[in-house]
Amino acid sequence: MDSSKNQKSCIFLVDDNVVNLNTGKAALHHKYTVITIPSGEMLLRALEKTKPDLVLLDIDMPGMSGFDTIKVMKRDPETVDIPVIFLTGKDGTENELLGLSLDAVDYITKPFAAPLLLKRVELHLELHAQKNELRRFNEKLLDTVQEKVQDLNSLHNAIIGWAAEVIEFRDEETGYHVERVQKYLEVLVNAMGKTEKYAAEVATWDKDAFLRSALLHDVGKIKVHDDILLKREKLTEEELMCMQLHPIYGKTLLESLQNKLPDQAVLEYAKTLAYSHHERWDGTGYPNRLEGEEIHLQARMMSLADVYDALISERPYKRAFSHEEAMTMIVEQRGTQFDPELADLFVSLSDQIEEISKELNAVKLGIAKHNPVRLSTTTLNAGELNAGELDVI
Ligand SMILES: [Fe+2]
Repeated sequence: MDSSKNQKSCIFLVDDNVVNLNTGKAALHHKYTVITIPSGEMLLRALEKTKPDLVLLDIDMPGMSGFDTIKVMKRDPETVDIPVIFLTGKDGTENELLGLSLDAVDYITKPFAAPLLLKRVELHLELHAQKNELRRFNEKLLDTVQEKVQDLNSLHNAIIGWAAEVIEFRDEETGYHVERVQKYLEVLVNAMGKTEKYAAEVATWDKDAFLRSALLHDVGKIKVHDDILLKREKLTEEELMCMQLHPIYGKTLLESLQNKLPDQAVLEYAKTLAYSHHERWDGTGYPNRLEGEEIHLQARMMSLADVYDALISERPYKRAFSHEEAMTMIVEQRGTQFDPELADLFVSLSDQIEEISKELNAVKLGIAKHNPVRLSTTTLNAGELNAGELDVI
């Protein structure tokens, strides 16, 4: 029953003594609906059918005592919130403390003065109503906050997705490269979370932010001149050096965004990926020639996903390699280009990776759900691709 509605609140008065039941009812009935119940067992049965606004509960009763009865009530989610006041002849600090420790809201000893009993019942009903109102308010507030967070996340995702599209449109290559790379990474990070070696580290990451950040790994290409970025022929040494500045451009762009939006995990991850995704395990990558575990784990993951997708994609200067060929090339480059253990894990996920890669064929056939078919960002070194040269730019 709900005391917030404009009707009399309902009180269950539980006592094995008829005189006590009558006295209690006489004190309260003009203001409340009082249901008298002669035992703890019968109270529990009554609670299955209806919920009162408050229970006045005797302690010493044949069968279930008041203490046992309240324990059952407080274990049941349906009755845990009903306020219980012990109304008992059992006095003494110890009993009172025990009663209150069992989550009774008050402890009144008999004989009681009727006006005082009425006042205390009023007080507890009022407190209970306020508590309920506060809980409803908090729930509503939480819903509103969650809605706002969702709005912000949507905006966040939309802006990052938009930035990734801008990068891809400039590059005019195959469609949805960054989205596929993001999916390969998701498969990889989930698998890493189940391994002894990586689980602890991966657990510290904000996985959603990390995967969103993957869309921005080539953001630095925005600053590469069209003549170089869109060139179909093999790049000259000088052009290659310009192209290889894109990780540094990416880092700088993301740092300037971080100055405006500090403490955004997605930007921190994106900076790591953008800056280090072309480093190689053997120390011959760029821009810093980092070696082995000097390269951030996330960047080592990105290197695998990025190169795999470039391998299975067609370019003006190369055919699309099959999934099996790409996996073989990755195996051949474990320990040189790629972190060997991570490469092994990536290859072990071959079936899932291949499933995602099939989306590329869907794009080729023009049946991808997005339209128009966009072209992608990763470019293999023109004319330089062989099993020993898997660098993507
Ligand atoms: Fe790149």
